[in-house]
Amino acid sequence: MSTSELTPPELTGIGKKGAAAATFVDERVGSNGWLRRNLNKVFPDHWSFMLGEVALYSFIVVLLSGVYLTLFFKPSMVEVIYDGPYIPLKGVKMSEAYDSALGISFEIRGGLLMRQIHHWAALFFMTAIAVHMFRVFFTGAFRKPRELNWMIGVGLAMTALMAGFSGYSLPDDLLSGTGLRIAEGIVLSIPVVGTWASFLLFGGEFPGTDFISRLYGVHILLIPGILLALITVHLMLVWVQKHTQFPGPARTNNNVVGYPLMPIYMAKAGGFFFLVFGIIVIISGLVQLNPIWLFGPYTPDQVSAGTQPDWYIGWLDGALRVMPNWEIQAFGYTLSLNVLTPALIIPGLITVALMAYPFLERWATGDKREHHLLDRPRDNPTRTGLGVMAITFYVLLWIGGGNDIIAVGFDLSINSIIWFLRISLIVLPPIAFLITKRICLSLQRRDRDKLLHGRETGQILRLPHGEFIEIHAPLNDNERAKIMAKPEVKPVAAPPETDSAGVRNPKLKSDRRRSKLSQFLFGDTVAKPSAAEIEHADEHLAEQVAVTAPVIQEDNELEIAHDGSVLHHPGRPISNRPDSQQKS
Ligand code: HEM
Repeated sequence: MSTSELTPPELTGIGKKGAAAATFVDERVGSNGWLRRNLNKVFPDHWSFMLGEVALYSFIVVLLSGVYLTLFFKPSMVEVIYDGPYIPLKGVKMSEAYDSALGISFEIRGGLLMRQIHHWAALFFMTAIAVHMFRVFFTGAFRKPRELNWMIGVGLAMTALMAGFSGYSLPDDLLSGTGLRIAEGIVLSIPVVGTWASFLLFGGEFPGTDFISRLYGVHILLIPGILLALITVHLMLVWVQKHTQFPGPARTNNNVVGYPLMPIYMAKAGGFFFLVFGIIVIISGLVQLNPIWLFGPYTPDQVSAGTQPDWYIGWLDGALRVMPNWEIQAFGYTLSLNVLTPALIIPGLITVALMAYPFLERWATGDKREHHLLDRPRDNPTRTGLGVMAITFYVLLWIGGGNDIIAVGFDLSINSIIWFLRISLIVLPPIAFLITKRICLSLQRRDRDKLLHGRETGQILRLPHGEFIEIHAPLNDNERAKIMAKPEVKPVAAPPETDSAGVRNPKLKSDRRRSKLSQFLFGDTVAKPSAAEIEHADEHLAEQVAVTAPVIQEDNELEIAHDGSVLHHPGRPISNRPDSQQKS
């Protein structure tokens, strides 16, 4: 059947029923106009925009699988004797929480798979959040008007981290209990109120008998509630502020080039949700994680060797492990900087720095415009360098979290690893910053060359006097638009000490600081060629293209150009002459 013979959807049975339902709702709540406006909303297309979606879909999987687990998990620290089917633990004393987690794993139908799905989906969620955040940072999507959404995002990342930690602490096995013991140490290190806060949290001495039930409420109610609220506001803001887009032909700061939500994105998003769901289920079925029955129940006097937290907590564990043993005694109190610094001060500073970054950039440029066109990472070398520097710092801490495993695996001294990491944490991030910045500037230089001299074609031309040159072709519209979209940000100049009347600038110090920051953030860049330079280059390229247009084909590898030069295509199978298709 040709497309012209297809029945319009509103005339099919389902279409008529759908239209009747829509009219019913519209007559009561007036929804049709709103739906039409919103379902026609245009979304730009780029693979990296799906990272936020992966976070969203894995969060839904976390919620669904979590609800199943709540049906069987008992958040109680009451002591019981294990009497289940897992023989090695028969007769062992344990909490009801651990007993029920074993029950879910061995006795509840589909229980182990659900535990696996819940845990794997949480890992996907955290990974997607991290990569999504990098995408937003490196492309400058956090700039006006999206600063607020960036801050909500930082809040989401931190809350998600707590969601994960509170979740894998629930089963009360030896691994989770060891994690909670560390958490207790961190709370104790808080000056003045630490001991009091710890007693409040655990209902007395650690581990007490109340903590798991308290943590349970936080994990299944408080944190998901906060996450749901934040995600809702986050997505509403994406909706209201519209999505950014990467530079390209016809894309400007004032339009959105893409596809309508309905039907294209609805279909894509629906399919993508099931894809994410399916991949999580396949991995959960195939790759075992957190086998709590091997760890045994938690008892405060035991620690299992080689224990590792989930990947997203590893950096905090690493920070604790590599920190020197700094303690200050004052007024009869001990200030445990060895715990306070890595566990609270460094994460606190990182959170504040992340939240403040969009405002810092804005202050440094004085740029109050809205930005809907994304930057290519190379176009802002300092920002990209700072991002890579932060990732390097993070990865080093993360390696620190596995120092015992590395020491055993590679037969190294654990002290040497710690010292290597302490020095690396100071030395390597700045080196990563410098290298990344140089790479970005080199890529900018290459872009400039491409604009002025065209793209290298790989075709070698022998001139009549024997010289060999490579032919350059003009860039296509897409490549040209991408390079030309590079924003030219002028760093703020150093302020004069006095004005024209000789009056001293009262804000001199702050203006100087601003100018220095501005120079640091935006001073290093490769200027785009001017319009005149591009015009000249285009004329030159057009001449070259005309002169080198081949007129005679001698064989597959050689062509003679208009001016008698010889075009050489080493190894090329067929010529670009129209009749060569028939010859070959
Ligand atoms: C629960 C976690 C999160 C979910 C479910 C989520 C979801 C999304 C989705 C679906 C989008 C639109 C598609 C896209 O650009 O990828 C988006 C955009 C955005 N997200 Fe997130 N996100 C989360 C966490 C974060 C974090 C941690 C940050 C940064 C700290 C962040 C900052 C942003 C910003 C600024 C935008 C607008 C981007 C643009 O218009 O280009 N999000 N988010």
